Amino acid sequence: MLRVLVLHGSPRKNGNSDTLANYFKEGLKSRWEVEIEDYFANELNIKPCQGCLSCEKPLDEFCIQQDDMQAIYSSFLNSDIVVFATPMYWGYMTAQLKTIIDRMEAIANPEYFENKTFVVIITYRHHYESTVGFFERIQPFFKFNLNVITCCTKDHETDRDIPVIEIKSKLNEAFELGKEIGERIAN
Ligand SMILES: Cc1cc2nc3c(=O)[nH]c(=O)nc-3n(C[C@H](O)[C@H](O)[C@H](O)COP(=O)(O)O)c2cc1C
Repeated sequence: MLRVLVLHGSPRKNGNSDTLANYFKEGLKSRWEVEIEDYFANELNIKPCQGCLSCEKPLDEFCIQQDDMQAIYSSFLNSDIVVFATPMYWGYMTAQLKTIIDRMEAIANPEYFENKTFVVIITYRHHYESTVGFFERIQPFFKFNLNVITCCTKDHETDRDIPVIEIKSKLNEAFELGKEIGERIAN
């Protein structure tokens, strides 16, 4: 049984990044038994990190703020695969997803990360490098296995936004990555 946590960063439910995350999940489900927990950041009650550093002291919970982040900590620790799906907003991941990542300070220990496979899915009009760069920069410390899918959703010739559902090559890439990662972890 593969355990998967999917963090949806976009406020647009069933938008581009959600759709790619769904194709990734379908790829996984096509061959393996999976248990998937989806969290839509925009719908959760998650306060920003207060920088109080309480999480550096032994606590009953990971963070003293008792909000929806507590469920994400548990799901993260139980998961083999963690998907971060987000559009680019003003040069970075959405604020909703960044808030979750800041709160991960409470579990920022390689022992919680090193056996995990991360799948970063980014949809964008112009650029994705800052967000991919963030995951690449922390990878050598946390030692998760990093997989990235990026997808441009703008036709720069016509200036039109292209819904990702029309970009078959990317839907296929997400589906195939699901199959491949399932195979890698299950074997
Ligand atoms: C408020 C806002 C800010 C955006 N900022 C950027 C940006 O800085 N860079 C970029 O490449 N695309 C930017 N975009 C475009 C989205 O990233 C793109 O349309 C994406 O495919 C939307 O994915 P979603 O449907 O999952 O929300 C922005 C879109 C919005 C609504």
